[in-house]
Amino acid sequence: GDVFTYDPGFTSTASCTSTITYIDGDKGELLYRGYPIEQLAEKSHYLEVCYLLLYGELPTAAQLEDFEHRVTNHTMVHEQMHNFFRGFRRDAHPMATMVGVVGAMSAFYHDSTDISDPWQREVAAIRMIAKLPTIAAMAYKYSVGQPFVYPKNSLDYAGNFLHMCFSVPAEEYIVNPILSKAMDRIFTLHADHEQNASTSTVRLAGSSGANPFACIAAGIACLWGPAHGGANQACLEMLREIGTVDRIPEYIARAKDKDDPFRLMGFGHRVYKNFDPRAKVMKESADEVLELLGIEDNETLKVAKELERIALEDEYFVSKKLYPNVDFYSGIILDAMGFPTAMFTPIFALSRTVGWISQWKEMMFDPELKIGRPRQLYTGAPARGYIEVEDR
Ligand code: CMC
Repeated sequence: GDVFTYDPGFTSTASCTSTITYIDGDKGELLYRGYPIEQLAEKSHYLEVCYLLLYGELPTAAQLEDFEHRVTNHTMVHEQMHNFFRGFRRDAHPMATMVGVVGAMSAFYHDSTDISDPWQREVAAIRMIAKLPTIAAMAYKYSVGQPFVYPKNSLDYAGNFLHMCFSVPAEEYIVNPILSKAMDRIFTLHADHEQNASTSTVRLAGSSGANPFACIAAGIACLWGPAHGGANQACLEMLREIGTVDRIPEYIARAKDKDDPFRLMGFGHRVYKNFDPRAKVMKESADEVLELLGIEDNETLKVAKELERIALEDEYFVSKKLYPNVDFYSGIILDAMGFPTAMFTPIFALSRTVGWISQWKEMMFDPELKIGRPRQLYTGAPARGYIEVEDR
């Protein structure tokens, strides 16, 4: 028969060509369309980065204004969607709600997602970038039993998200510019990361010609796991469980013990064998935000820094090239903003949506697009005859 390359976990298989994101794992380098993530995090902002990822170039002032206008035009979700949310248990995890609601968008926008039409793909992309914050905020509001808050287009993208999460009819949330800037930076740092598990899922789903909202729902489902986007929730819960600096050695010992399934959450990466550049920016951001909020005495941040310091000196972590990843410090910032841990992964999902949809678009324009169809090495029983039930 045919001969296949066996590559579990796809550690050495390139599944596509792409012009969007570049990672050099040994150097700890991450570029979006050629621009270093550090520069984008410092000088740009999320919607500009969305434009860059989608169209390949930084926008002119006029292009940016037009793009922002197109996005804000689509921030509301159909009113009927409210009923869809209400079908979930009131204490449903917001990721569960998001998988369902984003998938259901395919039923609302089937009219405008004829994916053979480039213009319709464009509309789908804009809708997704515009609506994901609204959907994530609604999932949050539903989970805490508060009324949904409509988007407010006079606010910027991050400020609007904070508003939809934290305003209540009794009191409007006054958006703190420090927090909206920090929120925007978190979105930017998560915007794309080449062929990670969830992006590969979106591409695989899209390769069959599936509706783009359904493809993004598949990406959200994949992101949820603790080895991927779910690590940010798991990481803060771990830091809280450790609680105090004196308990760190116990957890380091557990992470090294091969008989213990425990891993240091927010540590290690398939591609980075050096510092995750996003973690560096996130750490600086955590310091900045906590200081500006006057809570630099935060015990969780102390535990995180000391854990990082000890791990980076430990032979086990050094020899395996395990460094903090993007999820290590993000939770500390989100916690300081007032988000419960269950919202950390939904925030990752809404930030990554632009990466997913940019990659989906890139794939749909590829004249050589083929349905993704890996093969396997069969290790089961050889061909054999059926045995009647009374003879078994
Ligand atoms: N704590 C302790 N040991 C670890 C860790 C960790 N966090 N990560 C990897 N190792 C060990 C692992 O046990 C293995 O040891 P050995 O070779 O002796 O069996 C070795 O390092 C290589 O690990 P691997 O699982 O083969 O590596 P991978 O590339 O398949 O996995 C990973 C990468 C990110 C899933 C893994 O490092 C991990 O589980 N980390 C914790 C979860 C996490 O923080 N995920 C977020 C990833 S970054 C952003 C995102 O995708 O959301």
